[in-house]
Amino acid sequence: MKHLRKIMLTIIFLAVITVFSLIMFETAQNEPPKPAYKSSRHYGDIHPHFVAISDSRVTIEQHLDEHRSKGILEAHFSMPQSGIFKDVTSSRDDYFIHIATEHNIKTLLFQTTDSDKDGHGVFRWIGSKSLCTALADYKGNIPYSNSCTSNMEETFSAQRPEPKLRFKLPLNFKLTKEVFQLGTVSSFIHLIQNGIISNDGVVFVGDLQVIPYSCLARPEAIQASKKHFIRAIKDKLDKLPRYGEVFVITQFWSAAFYHGMVESLPRLSRYIGFIDHRSEIKIYVACTAFMNSSLQTLFPSRNISELVICDNIGPILAARVYFPEGTPCGMYKSPQSGVYQMSREFEKYISPSIHIPPKNYIILIKRTKHRILVQHDVIASFLNNIAKQNDMELFIYADDNLPSFSDTRKLFHQARLVVAPHGAGLANTLFSTPGLFVIEIVCNHPHLNLCYRQLAISLGHHYHGVSSKFGCEATLNVDVNEVKDAVQFYMKHIVKKKNL
Ligand SMILES: *[C@@H]1O[C@H](CO)[C@@H](O)[C@H](O)[C@H]1NC(C)=O
Ligand SMILES: *[C@@H]1O[C@H](CO)[C@@H](O)[C@H](O)[C@H]1NC(C)=O
Repeated sequence: MKHLRKIMLTIIFLAVITVFSLIMFETAQNEPPKPAYKSSRHYGDIHPHFVAISDSRVTIEQHLDEHRSKGILEAHFSMPQSGIFKDVTSSRDDYFIHIATEHNIKTLLFQTTDSDKDGHGVFRWIGSKSLCTALADYKGNIPYSNSCTSNMEETFSAQRPEPKLRFKLPLNFKLTKEVFQLGTVSSFIHLIQNGIISNDGVVFVGDLQVIPYSCLARPEAIQASKKHFIRAIKDKLDKLPRYGEVFVITQFWSAAFYHGMVESLPRLSRYIGFIDHRSEIKIYVACTAFMNSSLQTLFPSRNISELVICDNIGPILAARVYFPEGTPCGMYKSPQSGVYQMSREFEKYISPSIHIPPKNYIILIKRTKHRILVQHDVIASFLNNIAKQNDMELFIYADDNLPSFSDTRKLFHQARLVVAPHGAGLANTLFSTPGLFVIEIVCNHPHLNLCYRQLAISLGHHYHGVSSKFGCEATLNVDVNEVKDAVQFYMKHIVKKKNL
């Protein structure tokens, strides 16, 4: 017994020492660097590299134009004297403290006030018993909210997201630890002079490696990006293609449909009008077919070949880089992404162009390669009956027979209910009218991934999750009754609304 106590005490002692040294290490690492600028404690008068403005398109465009009016220099780049770059990513709350050290970066911070919230409903998500149980047992490292409810009535209780304190901002010229945090910063954009844009979405400027909050914001990926610079860029600085004004939306993995549509593209949402009318600005992007098609939709009067710089040409040097806030991988951390605004941008182009008589669709997504839903046929025939009874139409959206991207957008726009196994097809709910009902069959442990829950919530949809019992990632096996119960409940509301 005595022995045990001794061992316990030693362990506690070691733990305390470790935590203490970690704290010391953190503090030493965060030791602020030194440049000198005028100081002021006035709220509106922050460090001169930052300007806080209201989050409205008109104001943003005014400030971007003001910045442009200062003319543009020829692009050039020299390696930092130390030869190494300091990586900074906005997943860290001291991000701006580091950004402030670089005089080639100006930052516009957007602030929302209570009166100009975009006012769309954010609904409580629901889980069938299988999902609530899975979440209660979840031991993975993603901080999923475990406030699961199976009471479907609650899907109609709208919530308002709490404004979060994000980012410390440097307050005084010495960049000491005197900082304040704005609870109202909705987003930001960096205006960077002389940056190297790498095809992983990173910008190198001065001695900083500026990393968007994205799937790249992980230590091993950041190291790989540094190595890529040394291997593929460092000795070719003179040979890099040079551009004047470049707007970066490429993010890590953005050639994949989900990451492209939900994480990369929404970075444009505040700036479409601005870019549309200023033909000198090019967009650096992963030129997939779906991205080209999306850009052609959003910029109908522009020639896409002249609008884009495809990131597969590799790194480039730009005199002026527009670098909007990134979107976190899988959206777990930031409900403030531009995805809702992007869905409204698409709607402008979808609605007027519908020639076929509007139908009310129930869409069932069918996957044929991975995550095949074993109970697909049973659920399809159930949904088909329900659709017929209610003067709606069931559409099977199958990955081995996909409609064109533009028909996909129309279909999802006219959908009232989508039932789907977990997968990228759900990213098409971006094109749906807010208020869509989404029933997702998610993977069982350890493959649970709730990124589409966050997407649905951000888009103002109603989300209901059901868990597969076993089989993921190859197949999903669901309790069909859980799906049927959910469908029947939500259909009552869809029908009621349709008949109003
Ligand atoms: C678009 O731009 C490309 C490259 O400059 C050019 O070859 C092409 O003819 C243009 N297309 C149209 C429709 O103007
Ligand atoms: C997208 O458009 C760009 C510019 O016209 C082109 O270079 C690229 O090949 C296109 N991508 C696809 C997949 O068609």
